[in-house]
Amino acid sequence: VRKALIVHGGAGSGKIEKREIKERELGKAVEYGIEAIRSGSVEAVQAAVSYMEDSGVFNAGYGSCLNMLGEIELDAAIMDGSNMRGAGVANCTVNHNAVKVARAVMMYTNHVLVSGKYLELIAERSGLKKEKLTPSNEVLEKFKQMKEKIDDRNSKVYSLLKEFGTVGAVALDDMKIPAAAVSTGGLWMKFPGRIGDSAIIGCGIYADKSKGASCATGIGEEIIRNALSYSLCNLLKFGSEKAAKSAIKMITERSGKNTAGVIAVDLEYRVSYAYNTDFILVAWYDDKRKKVIVPNK
Ligand code: GLY
Repeated sequence: VRKALIVHGGAGSGKIEKREIKERELGKAVEYGIEAIRSGSVEAVQAAVSYMEDSGVFNAGYGSCLNMLGEIELDAAIMDGSNMRGAGVANCTVNHNAVKVARAVMMYTNHVLVSGKYLELIAERSGLKKEKLTPSNEVLEKFKQMKEKIDDRNSKVYSLLKEFGTVGAVALDDMKIPAAAVSTGGLWMKFPGRIGDSAIIGCGIYADKSKGASCATGIGEEIIRNALSYSLCNLLKFGSEKAAKSAIKMITERSGKNTAGVIAVDLEYRVSYAYNTDFILVAWYDDKRKKVIVPNK
């Protein structure tokens, strides 16, 4: 049975915080995704992303960063390449598994982007309980340190940001159906209500059965300006490696370095990644060797 899946746990510059734990968790996320791929690529990407949301070591789910008021506001999206159906959630505060809330929006509404408190009504149709999202002590400590550095436009804080955490996954199942999912707490100290690429189809993710699937991480504003995941998906006919590199070349030329990383899968089950930051954290299932690869472990 042919299958492919690649996940990422964010990109950035400088030293990677908690590198070992993150790499271990990425490997496990791939295992969960590959287990779920029997039920299709959408199940696979949801399983991988919700595992990373649960782990608490990435900027998503339980590990999410805080906005300038010290609140958690999650963005996430999921897309099924078989039928162009996909949906995103923005400023989600109803459940830490924002990717599952996005899936509920995809399943139970005709909308592609829903934000705010009434997400609760959609989430409960999937059996998701309303949760109070509380930051960990570690996240609260980081907030305290950053708060002293806020200026009016937040540019001072943004320039200090070293790691752009998002978690994401793309997969291709044995029916050659691609899917993509992404989830994040967004950017540290973002303005309350700010929406990043991860909520928006074509920006944070894209999947199309005639092309493949793609997912981005990095500075949401730049990713949106470049419609990065849609642009990358349109290049997948050249093979996922060339496509990922070209997409990163494009965003680097237009928006500068240290702006983004991407992962992708083409219809030949080839996964790839590229980035213009110092690092990107990735792991994948290699269809040829039939095993999970965590490159830097
Ligand atoms: N890429 C995550 C964000 O900017 O929200």
